[in-house]
Amino acid sequence: MANILQPTEKNLRELRKFLFLGGIVGVPTETVYGLAANAFDPEACSKIFEAKRRPANDPLICHISGVEALEQICHSNALAIRLANRFWPGPLTFVLPKKEKIPGLVTAGLDSVGVRCSAHPVFQKLVALCDFPLAAPSANPFAYISPTTAQHVKAGLGSKIEYILDGGPCAYGVESTIVDLRDESQPRILRYGALPTEKIEAELGRSIEKPVATTADESVQHLAPGALPKHYSPRTPLDLRGGIAPEEIQNLSPDTAALLLSKPTQKVSANVHWLSENGKLDEIAANLFAKLRALDESGYHRIIAEEAPELGLGLAINDRLRRASFR
Ligand code: TXA
Ligand code: MG
Repeated sequence: MANILQPTEKNLRELRKFLFLGGIVGVPTETVYGLAANAFDPEACSKIFEAKRRPANDPLICHISGVEALEQICHSNALAIRLANRFWPGPLTFVLPKKEKIPGLVTAGLDSVGVRCSAHPVFQKLVALCDFPLAAPSANPFAYISPTTAQHVKAGLGSKIEYILDGGPCAYGVESTIVDLRDESQPRILRYGALPTEKIEAELGRSIEKPVATTADESVQHLAPGALPKHYSPRTPLDLRGGIAPEEIQNLSPDTAALLLSKPTQKVSANVHWLSENGKLDEIAANLFAKLRALDESGYHRIIAEEAPELGLGLAINDRLRRASFR
């Protein structure tokens, strides 16, 4: 069973050595926990695919220490540098042409690589100690709910990995926003995430292309091979609603859990749950995955959940809820 390690200087140095020797480690980031390996070591990275049971056609994101390390792994451009200077460290991943040093296994054979610089202070320390980038997808078994605490990682992958670095609960609770920057004249959002696209658009002074709602679109599947319609999914069937009426909450069957965006004003039964006190999107995102896990473990036959408003972080929240509800 995996050991959860506290982020002491000594543990960080030992984990650096463990990673250098080809090990894989659960790591905290400000979005979700990741499962990290030396991105230059294909054998180490293959252990990530194995532990997660992740299909080989789903590429990994590489984590670097900052904008100065971009050229280590990819061919950057002025747009990437501008966005990095504005939003890094933070929950924004770029897709850029890869350099040869990054093994094809990491990028699932694509000639591009996902690259990100995390703002989590503990993970930043580990990345700074490593003189190699860290490939790290979310640390969940493939298609299950992403982990936002070290305990979640242990629950999902504890029998497959030796160490999890504890960095506390993740501040954002949804994954990074991914933007394809290969063509500077046509940046495109590949995945809604913790950095609202409006902020990127405000920085660039123009609107940028968004993912189509249904990932059945072939070109999108090609661009973001991991963007499968079913993902982030509890085992309990989840029905997503535009809204849930108070009468439905009052008449809820005991084998069904209701997941509301904010605390109801009326008195409700114990199977009614909520993601925030008063509907703030950052609070909803931060609680989303932990709450879905808790409901999944409570023996309900069904979960009904409410959609967030389609703006800001709401786009990432709804993307995760839609995939969680896909059957
Ligand atoms: O917040 C995050 O991004 C977290 C933390 C751990 O950094 N990581 C994460 O990784 O969410 P993962 O593997 O769960 O999701 C990465 C997504 C996948 O859908 C993958 O297909 C896509 O990014 N991706 C990675 N490299 C890509 C590339 N070169 N081109 C297109 N999509 C790529
Ligand atoms: Mg993932």
